[in-house]
Amino acid sequence: MIPAMPTTRNYALIPAAGSGSRMGSVLPKQYLPLLGKPMIHHTLAVFCSHPGISRVYVVLDPDDTDWERHDCGAFDDKLEVLRCGGATRAATVKNGLAAMAGKAHERDWVLVHDAARPCLTHAMLDHLLAELRDDEVGGLLAVPVADTLKREGADGRVDHTEPRSGLWRAQTPQMFRYDLLRRALQADGAAASTDEAQAVESLGHAPRLVMGDGHNLKVTYQEDLVIAELLLSKAEKK
Ligand code: C5P
Repeated sequence: MIPAMPTTRNYALIPAAGSGSRMGSVLPKQYLPLLGKPMIHHTLAVFCSHPGISRVYVVLDPDDTDWERHDCGAFDDKLEVLRCGGATRAATVKNGLAAMAGKAHERDWVLVHDAARPCLTHAMLDHLLAELRDDEVGGLLAVPVADTLKREGADGRVDHTEPRSGLWRAQTPQMFRYDLLRRALQADGAAASTDEAQAVESLGHAPRLVMGDGHNLKVTYQEDLVIAELLLSKAEKK
């Protein structure tokens, strides 16, 4: 008898150990309120309610004192809290992957998603999963650059205009197999990667760009909170 192929699972890994210094708020940005709930609640809800996601790991700063203040009990059946965040996003993800050892198998998919992207929808997630299910490398949601790009020169003046053709803005989720992602983030120089795809590229692979949606914004500055709240309230009304 031919042995059955092990089922490949999809895991979500949510780095949430940042301080959000660009936001200029004392409260780390993942806890800032959006429609009366902390931002991270909206992010976790998308993954915990998606039938294609087996388990959701959220990685917090070991000294995080805000998590306990919020009720995330609704996610108990899928959510696991890991208190092993690092000094950079790459370190946080690397530590989270290490904590998943023994739970995730080599070929399982890991979808890394910023806690600060609360406007992701099931439709975006479905699209990513469908596009990458049979891909050997994996990939990420991204959108083509729409604005004209200026390279800064001296005294705040434009040095030159960069051609924008072929340039994309990387979003998350970024979806890679557990084994490849672990190796990529353990490699020399990976600590400087600003996303998972960059670490995977450093191993010589070419991640797939999957067309995303501008609504999947990363909340970085105060003004992004207003936009995120509008997008979330529009989605709630549907
Ligand atoms: O700061 P930035 O917006 O790039 O952070 C993106 C995501 O990475 C956020 O969800 C943030 O909490 C997380 N992060 C982390 N550990 C760090 C820095 C950022 O988990 N040391």
